[in-house]
Amino acid sequence: MLEEIKALSAQIKSDLSAISTPEELEAFRLKHLVRKGTIAQLFDRMREVSKEDKPLVGKEMNILRTTAQSGFDELQSGVSKKEAKPSEDLTLPPRTLYHGHEHPIMQAKARMEEIFIRMGFTIATGPDIEDDYHNFEALNFPPDHPARDMQDTFFVKHGDREDVVLRTHTSPVQIRMMQSHEPPIRAIMPGRVYRNESITARSLAEFYQVEGLYVDKGVTMAQLKGTLFEFAKAYYGEDIKFRFRPSFFPFTEPSAEMDITCFLCDGQGCRVCKQSGWLEILGCGMVHPNVLSNCGIDPEVYSGYAFGMGIERTQMLAIGLDDIRLFYENDMRFLGQF
Ligand code: PHE
Repeated sequence: MLEEIKALSAQIKSDLSAISTPEELEAFRLKHLVRKGTIAQLFDRMREVSKEDKPLVGKEMNILRTTAQSGFDELQSGVSKKEAKPSEDLTLPPRTLYHGHEHPIMQAKARMEEIFIRMGFTIATGPDIEDDYHNFEALNFPPDHPARDMQDTFFVKHGDREDVVLRTHTSPVQIRMMQSHEPPIRAIMPGRVYRNESITARSLAEFYQVEGLYVDKGVTMAQLKGTLFEFAKAYYGEDIKFRFRPSFFPFTEPSAEMDITCFLCDGQGCRVCKQSGWLEILGCGMVHPNVLSNCGIDPEVYSGYAFGMGIERTQMLAIGLDDIRLFYENDMRFLGQF
């Protein structure tokens, strides 16, 4: 019996050393390690061994089994490592690490706030869900003004009330500021606004505006222009050219819109500026006396200016983007550039 164990042990060792493929390893297992294999068969014959020889033979048998099993295990892990090799392609380029950062629109908002804070403005906010009074009426919109139309305004169901809307601009925050503060008031009011419009390359149904308001004794249109020109230079660069154009808003009189030279064609005329060489960046004007009165401020004593601009639009112009929707498509290739 001991002779046979020795012979099988030699056989197993030579078999192990000859294995070089997973198939050969499997053949080894089937030959030696399974229930009907060589080792198990020898174990079966332990019955024939005499009582006094049993401890020694048993010990040798156990050594044999352990040697075979551990030799097999070792090769198997080696073989499976070899098998794993092809999935590690060392010629692949490394993975890009993405660093999280603020959304470009929030970065733009922060830059605008910083510029206006430097000029002495504070920051105020108001609710996104407004009533008709703050969004329209107090701002001197006549009852039949088209901006109240279903086409532009999202109405909100709120009990029996029919005057609850998602604010269509940040101007209602002007009203809230003037109702709750004594002049002088000098604040900017950033926030989200909502319009029932179709989403296109140039317009969104939900976007950000920054409103500005300065109310004091003797506030003039010249101060408005000076402040906005300083802002435009700080935001777009010293070389920027701008112009004021007459416009109309119910809550300002006189009203104007401010344009800057088109960054794409440098004022030559192109598709983005519709061949005009100019791009509109904001609406502004002197606060209408009716609006001051609506808020309990005497228009004989005080005057004020106000302005409002869309952040997405402003940012589009600053970076030369021709589709506003890119800001909200969450494509990392786009967002990662800011
Ligand atoms: N609220 C106006 C708009 O959304 C912009 C504006 C603000 C104009 C303040 C004048 C003064 O278009």
